[in-house]
Amino acid sequence: MSQSSSAPLSGVKSLKSLSAVEMNKQPETVLVLPVRAKKPFPTGLCCLTLGLVVFMSGLVLASVYVYRYYFIPQVKDSLFHCRVVYEDSVYAPLRGRQELEENVGIYLDDNYEQISVPVPHFGGSDPADIIHDFQRGLTAYHDIALDKCYITELNTTLVMPPRNLWELLVNVKRGTYLPQTYIIQEEMVVTGRVRNMRQLGPFIHRLCYGKETYRLRRRNQRRRIERREIKKCHSIRHFENTFVVETVICDRV
Ligand SMILES: *[C@@H]1O[C@H](CO)[C@@H](O)[C@H](O)[C@H]1NC(C)=O
Repeated sequence: MSQSSSAPLSGVKSLKSLSAVEMNKQPETVLVLPVRAKKPFPTGLCCLTLGLVVFMSGLVLASVYVYRYYFIPQVKDSLFHCRVVYEDSVYAPLRGRQELEENVGIYLDDNYEQISVPVPHFGGSDPADIIHDFQRGLTAYHDIALDKCYITELNTTLVMPPRNLWELLVNVKRGTYLPQTYIIQEEMVVTGRVRNMRQLGPFIHRLCYGKETYRLRRRNQRRRIERREIKKCHSIRHFENTFVVETVICDRV
């Protein structure tokens, strides 16, 4: 709107230099012309500036991306200290939000993961060392409180493969924190003693050597109610995925 007031003035100025013949013939068209010629100029400059700003920020973001994703992973650390906050639906609403800490070692060449769960801040869950051996398809829980080992089939829907878990934890380290998560429960029942430790592979063998070692079977979901009748249950809370798993291990009655 400010242009419309100044434009006729400058139009009048330019008119003075024009011949009197032209002025007499079409005074209105001449007056309009300078306004039309002036308007597109600032718009073009704005577009150019905006384009430049967008381009520059794109360049900066691209550099940050390239740096983060191609240079940082070169530092191939495979040991992580992890912490996750989850909604405790198992004992809710008594406990509500819980925090779980653990150390994770990922061995990409040997295709296994080792997890150490320390003594939790509250009772109820046992400290443990866990090995997920993807080569053998086995999981071993060393319950530190009982000093006993439990072997079960590796459940790949609960445990992320080493490469994927590594990527997840690298992202967590970078600051893309795990969102608050949830807990699921799995129930296992002891089926018998393991005598031949060598069949468990070198990593689980090393973890369980010299300890009472038992085989576990997944307990049928439908028989869950019976759990209260079996008093000899204990649990280990751990995570090797985007959620927490409580493995409840029950002795046979
Ligand atoms: C693995 O865990 C999921 C979720 O708890 C369960 O539905 C599935 O039956 C398990 N698979 C095996 C082979 O135990």
